[in-house]
Amino acid sequence: MTDHRRLRELLSDSRVSKDPTQHWPSWIDGSVPQDWALAGWVGVRNMFTAHGQRHRRLRSLVSSAFTPRRVTALSPDVREITEELLDELADTPAGVQVDLRESFAYPLPISVICRLFGVPDRMRPGLRRVVDGVFDTSATPEQVRATQHELYELLGELVADKRAAPADDLTSVLLAARDEQDGRLDERELVDTLILLIGAGHETTVNLLDQAVVALLSHPEQLELVRAGDYSWDRVVTETLRWQPPLANVPLRYAVEDIELDDGVVIGRGEPILAGYAGACRDPRRYDRPDSFDITRDDNGDHLAFGHGAHYCLGASLARLEAETALPAFFARFPEVRLAVPAAEIPPAGGFIANGHRRLPVVLREE
Ligand code: HEM
Repeated sequence: MTDHRRLRELLSDSRVSKDPTQHWPSWIDGSVPQDWALAGWVGVRNMFTAHGQRHRRLRSLVSSAFTPRRVTALSPDVREITEELLDELADTPAGVQVDLRESFAYPLPISVICRLFGVPDRMRPGLRRVVDGVFDTSATPEQVRATQHELYELLGELVADKRAAPADDLTSVLLAARDEQDGRLDERELVDTLILLIGAGHETTVNLLDQAVVALLSHPEQLELVRAGDYSWDRVVTETLRWQPPLANVPLRYAVEDIELDDGVVIGRGEPILAGYAGACRDPRRYDRPDSFDITRDDNGDHLAFGHGAHYCLGASLARLEAETALPAFFARFPEVRLAVPAAEIPPAGGFIANGHRRLPVVLREE
């Protein structure tokens, strides 16, 4: 569904569920194999695939950690991580190409989320590999099984570490909910909630930073507006989210009962629905000149890049904080930065969920 108005309505319609075990007949009867490329999106057991009361229970266990106030308290950490990465980047010799995705857009959100959840450094490469696997929508059944196996092994190790030595981090908070409040969170829900939160911190904000840099460097007049102080960085972030949503499409939802749309089309009970965020964010019925990246526009406040309704992104404030910290700091440190190849030649990431690039070649300073 890419129609902005209808998608928004469906996202807050209680007749639309994300729980395949209750509302997707093809999942229930086993005709969708467990090693399907999207099984990691559909079959996890956490708030992402929960409906109604169970969704509220699973979300409430962690939502207090992501309130705007709690997130603002992370600001010094985000600034510190940003400055460290910029210092490393500053060692790049003038005139030399650097992959900004690898050296800035990737490590920043990963460092923040790993710090928040107390993930030890040694686990980071493995986690990154498995999250890449989950986002690979063309994975073969063997690859899906291998990813799942490694994912549960890694998370199992993290849980065992924290059980042995609880610390001041969110993994330990979730473990306490699992161990002390019997029945509130089962072991599978615990591990899958960790997967969701740590995974969400890996790919989405990476794409936001990546896309914002490409957008600004390929629209120098817009960069000039924000550099001159005429427009704020939060406008850059909002317009990037609308113009290039980091999650282009999100699987899956299911009609709990027949749903008749206002044009007479019926989504039959049990039929799957794909939330087409990238399409909806450029719906010409909703946005004036939808394909133009324009930070001065005022019609983008209701973009759907963070979803809408009960499953609205829990990490939205954190993602915004990261982007609104990282982008001004980066452009202030490297005023001469330019794309090393034309924007159209930067290879997109594969798959139809993540919306970023494989790499982001830039030159930070001229010789
Ligand atoms: C720019 C960055 C991000 C974007 C664009 C984004 C986008 C989204 C979207 C579209 C959804 C709704 C999925 C759906 O049901 O259709 C969502 C859900 C979610 N996001 Fe994010 N996300 C971002 C960053 C983060 C971060 C940093 C975290 C946490 C650390 C996070 C945690 C979550 C969680 C837990 C959910 C599930 C909420 C629920 O099902 O109730 N996200 N996100």
